[in-house]
Amino acid sequence: MSFRSVFIAVAIAFALILGAFLVNRARPNVETRQPTADFVRASGKCAECHARLQYSVVHEYEMSAHAKKGVNCLDCHQPTQGQQKKDHHGFVIGTHLTAGNCRGCHEQIYQEFLRSRHAAPSWGAIYGEKGLTPEQVNFSEQYQPGGTRRPPHPFVVAEGGSAMASGCEQCHSIGKPNEDGTIGTCTACHSRHTSSVELARLPTTCAQCHMGPDHSQIEIYDESKHGVMFAAQRQFLNLAADPSRLTTRDMFVPTCATCHMSGINGLKVTHDPSDRLSWYLANAVSEKRPNSLRAQAAMKQVCTQCHTQALIDGVYTRAEQVVAGTNARVLAARAIVDGLRKDGVLAGPPFSNPIDFLYFDLWHYDGRTSKHGAFMGGADFVQWHGNYPMLQKTVELKHEADALRAAHARSGHAAGE
Ligand code: HEC
Ligand code: HEC
Ligand code: HEC
Ligand code: HEC
Ligand code: HEC
Ligand code: HEC
Ligand code: HEC
Ligand code: HEC
Repeated sequence: MSFRSVFIAVAIAFALILGAFLVNRARPNVETRQPTADFVRASGKCAECHARLQYSVVHEYEMSAHAKKGVNCLDCHQPTQGQQKKDHHGFVIGTHLTAGNCRGCHEQIYQEFLRSRHAAPSWGAIYGEKGLTPEQVNFSEQYQPGGTRRPPHPFVVAEGGSAMASGCEQCHSIGKPNEDGTIGTCTACHSRHTSSVELARLPTTCAQCHMGPDHSQIEIYDESKHGVMFAAQRQFLNLAADPSRLTTRDMFVPTCATCHMSGINGLKVTHDPSDRLSWYLANAVSEKRPNSLRAQAAMKQVCTQCHTQALIDGVYTRAEQVVAGTNARVLAARAIVDGLRKDGVLAGPPFSNPIDFLYFDLWHYDGRTSKHGAFMGGADFVQWHGNYPMLQKTVELKHEADALRAAHARSGHAAGE
């Protein structure tokens, strides 16, 4: 072999190695780091294109527990039974992903979620049974009586389609019925590609929906001692701790998830945030839930991980007094409005008279807020966003009712002549 041919062979070999190195370096981590051929095919190919198109998607996936455990793009994106599919650059992918794309690997969690008010009752709150199968309604009613077997909300008609689609539905679609027969979405709390437990434990995640005057949970939390401590000590908390081994060493300050979902110090984790609630606080007049004793014991057991029994019982005793007080104010206001209807002073469908709104705001904003504030440490919400506006609206209601009765009497008098 001549020197020339050896030189060429060496040069070509070197060029090939360098080329391979450069090509490899340009490829996404997920392709080069992953061991199996299937994985390289399913995630590498997807990532190769999508890292150029939507870098954030691939990057977030790469940081997720899924990437570390070898769950690939196609594991989630392949169509499951009942889903529409389409050809996509040599793969078949689903056109719309749902909880059905997660349940294959997380069935028990899906079942817990399904029993909660985050599932069918969230949808039922707007549309009643519409869109749900009789089986779905029957299933949910076993766990959340009255949650789905009810008429659509009056605002569906009063406000109309686009207000529903871009308003109510954005929050309540956490329990939307999907075309594949499943209910809801898991990504409201975990996001699509981070699949993160840390994200789900942050108060701001729940606050996407749990905010505003009718359910001021984040505002209450932020001003509570818990919220203040969370803001101050967040960097010392281990928000990413494994749920099955979560202790008060990881989370010594509670977030929404700690009280409503986590299994701290060996307690049971749940995807049913209704599980530890003893009252129907969102209702105009609050009643105890069917399982109230068990549920309250479960919540108090969470508090006990950080507090003494006397402190906890004190909170519940005072809060239950606020519930009783609020119920009495709402019932008194309701009696005024019901009286007007009974005597024919008020007529027409719901929400067609200004006084309907006065009464609605009284229980829906102020009443609810006072009850939520009392249980979750928001004194300002019990008083200035709760009892004070209830008092103010009660006075206004009486005033309006008297004026309406007077006007009615005058017109009745005129009609009789
Ligand atoms: C050859 C490049 C390429 C490959 C390989 C590829 N995609 Fe895409 N993908 C695209 C382009 C380009 C778009 C945008 C096309 C469009 O808007 O119609 C897209 C759009 C999408 C969308 C948006 C949904 C939609 O219908 O608009 C999803 C989801 C998706 N890809 C997932 C995947 C997954 C999962 C894989 C691997 C199984 C994959 N892609 C492989 C190029 C690719
Ligand atoms: C844990 C499951 C899961 C994995 C793993 C996953 N995805 Fe997704 N992806 C989703 C979900 C859920 C959506 C939302 C789809 C929908 O709304 O129908 C989505 C949406 C997308 C979109 C559309 C994004 C947008 O905002 O328009 C693209 C593109 C995409 N995925 C690509 C990928 C690629 C590439 C990979 C792998 C690197 C991947 N996905 C891995 C669950 C996943
Ligand atoms: C192919 C199976 C598979 C699919 C599909 C899948 N997962 Fe996972 N998921 C896993 C595995 C495996 C783990 C890691 C479990 C472990 O570490 O013990 C995991 C872990 C998780 C975690 C915990 C992450 C952490 O930081 O501990 C979350 C949250 C999660 N998945 C959500 C989802 C969601 C939401 C979907 C649907 C959009 C989904 N998964 C789809 C298999 C899957
Ligand atoms: C910002 C997100 C958001 C929007 C928008 C929203 N809701 Fe809600 N809704 C919630 C949350 C969160 C709760 C839970 C309140 C609680 O339990 O304290 C709730 C509770 C309810 C309830 C009481 C619970 C029940 O099942 O009876 C009804 C009814 C309801 N919403 C109907 C509607 C209607 C109708 C609309 C639109 C006119 C709407 N919501 C808009 C987030 C929202
Ligand atoms: C209301 C918000 C919310 C929704 C919706 C939600 N999750 Fe979670 N999920 C959480 C929280 C919070 C945790 C962490 C609990 C804790 O602190 O230990 C979690 C934990 C997990 C884990 C880790 C569990 C473990 O034991 O390692 C998986 C897996 C998971 N979720 C999957 C799902 C799936 C699948 C769905 C849909 C059926 C879903 N999640 C819907 C909030 C949510
Ligand atoms: C995408 C919107 C959304 C997100 C995100 C969300 N929720 Fe909800 N949540 C709702 C809606 C809507 C309801 C009302 C369900 C109903 O109609 O009763 C609700 C109800 C609840 C209830 C009351 C259940 C009952 O039985 O009355 C609790 C507790 C709750 N959510 C806790 C949480 C926690 C904790 C998180 C965060 C880890 C969270 N939610 C995240 C929309 C959301
Ligand atoms: C320290 C524990 C704790 C924290 C933190 C906490 N909650 Fe609560 N929450 C409670 C208690 C206790 C109740 C009332 C329980 C009952 O009915 O027995 C409650 C009630 C609720 C309700 C009312 C459900 C109904 O009946 O209408 C919702 C919704 C809710 N919490 C959501 C949240 C959200 C969202 C956050 C975070 C922004 C949060 N909670 C933070 C303990 C907590
Ligand atoms: C993970 C630990 C943890 C859990 C669980 C927890 N708390 Fe707390 N709580 C704290 C911390 C930390 C403080 C601030 C203590 C301080 O001032 O030093 C606090 C403060 C309070 C305070 C204010 C005390 C005061 O006088 O300033 C009340 C009331 C309270 N918690 C009630 C509850 C109730 C009720 C529950 C259950 C529904 C609960 N907490 C669950 C950690 C927790």
